[in-house]
Amino acid sequence: MTVPSQSFTRAEPVSPPGKGFSSFATIQNALNDPYVAPARVPIDGGGGAQPSHSHGRQRSQSLPGTQAPRVLQPFDREEIRILLLENVSQGAVSMLREQGFQVDFHTGSWSEDELVEKIGEYHAIGIRSKTHLSRRVFEAARKLLVVGCFCIGTNQVDLKAAGERGIAVFNSPFANSRSVAELVIGELVCLSRQLADRASEMRSGTWNKVSKGCYELRGKLLGIIGYGHIGSQLSVLAESMGMRVIYYDVLPLMPLGSAHQAETLEELLNQADFVTLHVPELPETRGMIGAKELAQMKKGSYLINNSRGSVVDLEALTDALASKHIAGCAVDVYPREPAKNGENAFTNELNPWTSRLQSQPNVIMTPHIGGSTEEAQSMIGIEVGNALCRYLNFGSSIGAVNFPEVTLRHITESEARAIRICYVHHNQPGALLAVNEIIGSHNVDKQSTDSLKDIAYLLADISDVSENDIRDIYTRLSKTPACILTRLLS
Ligand SMILES: NC(=O)c1ccc[n+]([C@@H]2O[C@H](COP(=O)([O-])OP(=O)(O)OC[C@H]3O[C@@H](n4cnc5c(N)ncnc54)[C@H](O)[C@@H]3O)[C@@H](O)[C@H]2O)c1
Repeated sequence: MTVPSQSFTRAEPVSPPGKGFSSFATIQNALNDPYVAPARVPIDGGGGAQPSHSHGRQRSQSLPGTQAPRVLQPFDREEIRILLLENVSQGAVSMLREQGFQVDFHTGSWSEDELVEKIGEYHAIGIRSKTHLSRRVFEAARKLLVVGCFCIGTNQVDLKAAGERGIAVFNSPFANSRSVAELVIGELVCLSRQLADRASEMRSGTWNKVSKGCYELRGKLLGIIGYGHIGSQLSVLAESMGMRVIYYDVLPLMPLGSAHQAETLEELLNQADFVTLHVPELPETRGMIGAKELAQMKKGSYLINNSRGSVVDLEALTDALASKHIAGCAVDVYPREPAKNGENAFTNELNPWTSRLQSQPNVIMTPHIGGSTEEAQSMIGIEVGNALCRYLNFGSSIGAVNFPEVTLRHITESEARAIRICYVHHNQPGALLAVNEIIGSHNVDKQSTDSLKDIAYLLADISDVSENDIRDIYTRLSKTPACILTRLLS
């Protein structure tokens, strides 16, 4: 069975001759030859409702009185091919196959040369952190529409080169929030009961039954610095264990439960029994907790850092532990971290304070595992898989990191003669005027556009268009001076 792709043209010099809708004949053949696609799992197109199937595909159930959305169709019959590297989650593989895409799955990463040789066959690629997508790779990616990074960061991708070619890049920055929040709960218990020290003593045969300096969490005050995805989830979990919560954030944020927002960082540090950091790495957060801030913390309080290694001055923390001002700490992130797992990877050579910190009592050091769970991996698969489907099927770029975020509510089943224009273009004067000259004589049902630096993206739904209109719109849009990439979905 052939699986259809979406027709598109990337503006010269990007698009080689004969690609996309380069001729009327291609469009005509496609329009006269509607395909019957395999059943697709409904994916929300970003318009807030679940799409159903059309053009011979099954419709999903819609509520009485609501308009069923329509899964948008490409014009030509070329199958959409997706390359998945680095053993991305099987959930994502299944989701993309159920959508009818042709998925090639590989467990390893590919070198730049391998990518350059083969990337030209693919419309989408999914990677994790080991595959580097360089400018050279993007230059060879003549059909590529979208990249899915099945991980948190996107450092491995030349985002600028991708954006210049109209290729959207998605990742999953928040899929492991719950994993981090749960780890902090575990660390709170471990620190307040000196669990790491007792467990380590028992491994060497030492029986040391003590209650002095060991506490319940109930009634204690947790200070959360950074009340975002992780901090706010942690707030709810901590309250459910009987803790009180105070938080500090640069933004005024609605408290969850009975939490209370501190006016200043110092106010939080002065009061909290436990302080935990959940801020991003920014110039303002670099060295945010140093000797001065540690001195502002209550004597006998605890510090947890699962955010970024640059946020806490670990030398100053070691001093505060040695002086017993701080009763314990849990650290998951470091200024310099080993490139790979192995013995003797984490020594004074990497960070000069290492052995001093290791020798302090009630210290829990973990190797950046805050977000490392099976569930987080699976959530990443679902989130990035969905983003790829939404972009390919509906043009929705919500969540893209290198690209303007634009979406439109869905086209419904009753709008049979409507099409969606996905137009990536240079952000330059006159670009939208040129588009409106082309589509202005049609009924533009809805339209949305945004720009991010040099790249702009427009989605527009046009109703009651004939086959001739579609050909004309497509050809003229592809020839506009600002065009980077034009796709039409119907
Ligand atoms: N240890 C791990 O494995 C792991 C896993 C996931 C995330 N993280 C890290 O955790 C941190 C938090 O992640 P998140 O998903 O909750 O981020 P987020 O963006 O959802 O929340 C961060 C919060 O910090 C606030 N903030 C920014 N600057 C601040 C400042 N100077 N003072 C106070 N608040 C400030 C922001 O307003 C925001 O509310 C990030 O640094 C992330 O990289 C670590």
